[in-house]
Amino acid sequence: MTNDPYALASEAAAELKRAAGLDTFDVALVMGSGWVPAADAIGETAAEIPFTELPGFRAPAVAGHGGKIRVIRTPGGRHALVLLGRTHLYEGLGIDAVVHGVRTAAAAGVRTLVLTNAAGGLRPETQQVGEPVLISDHINLTGANPITGTTFIDLSEVYSSRLRALVREIDPTLAEGVYVAFRGPTYETPAEIRMLRTLGGDMIGMSTVLEAIAAREANLDVLGISLVTNPGAGLSGEPLNHEEVLEVGRATAARMGILLSKVVDRL
Ligand code: 6GU
Repeated sequence: MTNDPYALASEAAAELKRAAGLDTFDVALVMGSGWVPAADAIGETAAEIPFTELPGFRAPAVAGHGGKIRVIRTPGGRHALVLLGRTHLYEGLGIDAVVHGVRTAAAAGVRTLVLTNAAGGLRPETQQVGEPVLISDHINLTGANPITGTTFIDLSEVYSSRLRALVREIDPTLAEGVYVAFRGPTYETPAEIRMLRTLGGDMIGMSTVLEAIAAREANLDVLGISLVTNPGAGLSGEPLNHEEVLEVGRATAARMGILLSKVVDRL
């Protein structure tokens, strides 16, 4: 095994192709907590490879975060790599571990990446719990960046406006919003949530932004979708818990899966 994270991703991609019996894939989807049950609705499973069999992948630490790559054939005949589970920065495994799945998908030939997550809502005035929101842009407050060196990468359109328009053709009711990421694993304080509202954030979570940056480095088109699972701290009077986040995902899995299957077939 190599120390170079990009070479490690190439090794994982080669193993993935071999295990799936395919030469390339059309799209990759990262299923955040709450989205895993939606994977079943995207299409028929052609292969499943546990993270433990792929170079550089780690079994996820958090319950409900999966731990394998499923190769799905959609009704329209596309091949999707579905990452059931992701590594978060708060797990302490390092930034390269966080973006390894994205780099592997890019090395496997994917040109389009769909990043999903469960997020806290910063705008309960207009957001419903259980509602998907298209990510229009992000604010990276993790303090980390997957890119090292002196390559200055343009982030003026991280989340493809073309892909967002395509999804809104499928579901015109979808709202768009700015996703803010903190490192976690603590949820925010009410004062932090008020700050994020002032900064122009609409959703808050602990994932997605670093993967999106790594995807732009690899020149992938990125689509991001948050499932709003609860209002941010202090906005509802209720304490937050991870079980609630997973439960909202289970309750809305069918809708999320149908949306994703339509998206994948129209890419
Ligand atoms: Cl309120 N905050 C963060 N950081 N992540 C979340 C969340 C809140 N709700 C779901 N995921």
